[in-house]
Amino acid sequence: MDQKLFETVDEYINGLLVKEDEALTATETSIRESDIPQISVSANQGKFLHILAKLCNAKKILEVGTLAGYSTIWLARALAHDGHLITLEFDPKHAGVAQKNIDRAGLGSLVEIRIGKALETLSQLEKENAGPFDMIFIDADKSPYTEYFEWALRLSHPGTLIVADNVIREGKVLDPNSSDEMVKGVQRFNEALAKNRKVTATIIQTVGAKEHDGMAIAIVN
Ligand code: SAH
Ligand code: DHB
Ligand code: MG
Repeated sequence: MDQKLFETVDEYINGLLVKEDEALTATETSIRESDIPQISVSANQGKFLHILAKLCNAKKILEVGTLAGYSTIWLARALAHDGHLITLEFDPKHAGVAQKNIDRAGLGSLVEIRIGKALETLSQLEKENAGPFDMIFIDADKSPYTEYFEWALRLSHPGTLIVADNVIREGKVLDPNSSDEMVKGVQRFNEALAKNRKVTATIIQTVGAKEHDGMAIAIVN
């Protein structure tokens, strides 16, 4: 693996095509200053999610795993002015930092952060008839990824795009004997995705500023 080269190429791509504005750089600063894990999507991946949301003509987006709102901002910026994004976060500290970042980006009226365990909030969203969502981004804890995917399907319509981050984990998904709970969670998810007849799906490997990983992309049939 040539991580340095991948990082330099990401800088090259970002220099050409992915200009972060003050709201995005301030979000990155807030992560460092609040001692929050630096596990947001990269700038280039954020723009990729933004393009996918535009392709979906997304009016309603659901995100599972907010952290500091970095991916949230990229996604919400693809919404129409009457669009809505609901993002689910377990940690109140992360949610508080995210709320400030989202407000600073001028997206406070489009974005709703729901604090709580995602599995509980997802069931609540169904009861509220909050769906169907046009795009769903799964990026929270990895063990229940398969359950998040099942909920995503229940909250979808034909044509909904479901994206799941971190499904390759530097190739560790190739190890059938892995004892890493995150790896086991995404292995189980990838297998469930492959078996599911309700979606057309693939996985794109990613390298760059972040470690080698992958995003699963599934469209609901
Ligand atoms: N999507 C973000 C990164 C999310 S990191 C970005 O790219 O900018 C994963 C987040 O999921 C963390 O903030 C973590 O606190 C949250 N999380 C972990 N377990 C959770 C759960 N059970 N329910 C909801 N959120 C959870
Ligand atoms: C981790 C989680 C993520 O969502 C990510 O993009 C990278 C790492 C983690 O929990 O290690
Ligand atoms: Mg992630």
